[in-house]
Amino acid sequence: MIGYLNGQYLPQENIVISPEDRGFLFADGIYEVIRSYSGKLFRTKAHLDRLSRGASALEFNQTDFRYLEPVCERLIQDNRLTQGDALIYMQVTRGVAPRSHAFPPIETPLTVYAMARPFQPHLREAETGIRAILIPDQRWARCDIKTVGLLANTLAHQRARNSHATEGLFVRDGAVMEGTHSNVMAVMDGKVITPPRTNYMLAGITREFVLSLCGELSIPFLETPLYESDILNVDELMIVGTTVEVTPVIAVNNEKIGSGIPGPLTRKLQKAFHLSASFVG
Ligand code: PDD
Repeated sequence: MIGYLNGQYLPQENIVISPEDRGFLFADGIYEVIRSYSGKLFRTKAHLDRLSRGASALEFNQTDFRYLEPVCERLIQDNRLTQGDALIYMQVTRGVAPRSHAFPPIETPLTVYAMARPFQPHLREAETGIRAILIPDQRWARCDIKTVGLLANTLAHQRARNSHATEGLFVRDGAVMEGTHSNVMAVMDGKVITPPRTNYMLAGITREFVLSLCGELSIPFLETPLYESDILNVDELMIVGTTVEVTPVIAVNNEKIGSGIPGPLTRKLQKAFHLSASFVG
């Protein structure tokens, strides 16, 4: 596979990152995961805009990453990923400098890395739905920045896996915020409910797209807190994200959601997502 590092396209095995990279030392970096459907990248601009917002929030010396769009396209082409499903992963860090908490000199180049790989969608989970567990949210207060500092997410995700669940849903102050690598949506009385955008959750590109589908399909939706105390009484529950797309959640903490099978509005959004995702770009 061919990857990209700081302006160069190289065989993946020849890509070397310094141990003094601040991404390695401090998790001082941001990332994006972009889906490609039969060679067509999904919402690249929205992903690169979010990368820019993250770079501004972290006070990086460069915040415009529009030049990475053709890089993503070339990685799909050069790695012959134009037929099936693929993922682009990109990571930008504050660069390489001797370890010090203070930022390195302003002219220190960022480390910009990108790679592509085939992706196998989780068809069975999408069909039958997944089980989730609730987990106390121990993350910092800037979950809106897509940083590579994902330890709380990986620990929570593994805890879910250890309990035979597929996703962990973070709970902070009695409200369900999002999943460890997805956003969350519920259906209550015919209405789609999803937590509002705050610093305690990531503004997902898929979330935004699914809300626009609700608009197109005349499904009422509301961005409002989803309380832990209500979660077992919602009619339907789903997670949405680049890798999970729209996946039904059929149980939380071993309690059934609704009748324990994927609900009708979840199915409708899932179908609409599949139909449009490969066309929209
Ligand atoms: N994660 N919330 C969190 C914490 C996430 O990590 C993600 C995505 C999302 C969904 O965002 P989007 O729709 O833009 O993919 C929400 C990626 C896929 C990952 O870490 O692999």
